[in-house]
Amino acid sequence: MKKIVLGVTSSISIYKACEILRRFQDNGIQVQVIMTRNATRLISPQLFSALSGCKTLVDLFGEDDGDRIAHVSLAEEASLLVVAPATANIIAKFASGVADDFLSTFYTSVRCRVLIAPAMNEAMYLHPQTQANIRKLRGLGVEFVLPEKGYLACKEEGWGRLATPNEIIERGMELLRKSESLRRKRIVVTAGPTREPLDPVRFLSNRSSGKMGYELAAEALRRGGEVVLISGPTALIPPAKATVINVQTAAEMAREVYKNLPGTDVLVMAAAVSDFRFESAAPQKIKKSNAPAKVGIVRTEDILTGVRRKKRKKGLVVVGFAAETEDVRRNALAKLREKELELIVANDVSSRETGFESDFNQVLLIDKRGVVTDTGRLTKREISRLIMDKIEDLLERKN
Ligand SMILES: Cc1cc2nc3c(=O)[nH]c(=O)nc-3n(C[C@H](O)[C@H](O)[C@H](O)COP(=O)(O)O)c2cc1C
Repeated sequence: MKKIVLGVTSSISIYKACEILRRFQDNGIQVQVIMTRNATRLISPQLFSALSGCKTLVDLFGEDDGDRIAHVSLAEEASLLVVAPATANIIAKFASGVADDFLSTFYTSVRCRVLIAPAMNEAMYLHPQTQANIRKLRGLGVEFVLPEKGYLACKEEGWGRLATPNEIIERGMELLRKSESLRRKRIVVTAGPTREPLDPVRFLSNRSSGKMGYELAAEALRRGGEVVLISGPTALIPPAKATVINVQTAAEMAREVYKNLPGTDVLVMAAAVSDFRFESAAPQKIKKSNAPAKVGIVRTEDILTGVRRKKRKKGLVVVGFAAETEDVRRNALAKLREKELELIVANDVSSRETGFESDFNQVLLIDKRGVVTDTGRLTKREISRLIMDKIEDLLERKN
């Protein structure tokens, strides 16, 4: 049985949380409620305990459960965190990472998806700070069921009324389905740059930070996939539960990709593999005094071409990336055809606002049938979700 955690905060629409809880149960979902201390001043936690069949959690330090730390163990079990109704206050706390009670501490402990249904009066909802907090959380991958316009408890008509339980349940169930949409699928993601040595201290590389690939690996994990992350040198912390293989050079990356190909359902080549390497790498540091006036560089092996020739699982979906500085669409389309890819993700890396090193990106997703989707400027996390949605479509069509 899937378990969701329902966060309940001190909004006037708190009474609707009972209906939301029951409706999730009707869908076969087990619900654990966490209330804020202020919420318990509006409704007794006992009501939620009785409805859910589990003791409602309120106090971070009150729940002594032997050797288990409640917010951490619950975070491992939860498939989804839904906060409905969500006050302006809890949204602000989530957006800034404040963890001073059970619910906000729980939010910072979960790896599962988070769905927030705000409810407040119009002034609070439209306040630029609240809007900025919502935008920030969206960029971090949090989902929202936004409030609607209607008659509010403050006896005014306006924006801020909690979305209907129907909408909240539908979105919640959709996210639960997504949390296992890649189950039993093996996804290999390459990320980061490669380093091609000249000697033990000097190398040829590029400006890739690895952020896009790491986000893609994390998104595939959130969908229940088995993820192998083959990474060039980056400063990033890999997502928990991914099998990480660290490599330095294009040749090492090629070797690891080929080795991991059997049994793989999706290969996402997000790494910026160096197209060139030095003709030879010296075993000791080359001294300036006896350095050659010129050094030769040669092409590295093209991994996507290599993949085409290797033994691979029937129905393998291969996704390539094209980092371009001009004529993005035409160059990407040519690469898609030449490399026989199912999907290519093309971005213009000449912009400082997006692309290399940035947390943001704007890409074109071009599939084999020539369908082009422009994502607009989004965070790399948001883009990783759109790419994974596309990949799931392609997997479905292939199988
Ligand atoms: C009767 C009453 C109704 C309230 N309704 C809302 C509401 O709908 N939305 C909201 O953001 N704040 C509302 N507030 C204000 C919050 O309760 C207040 O900001 C509180 O500090 C939030 O605490 P919490 O987020 O820990 O539950 C209400 C307060 C009262 C007294």
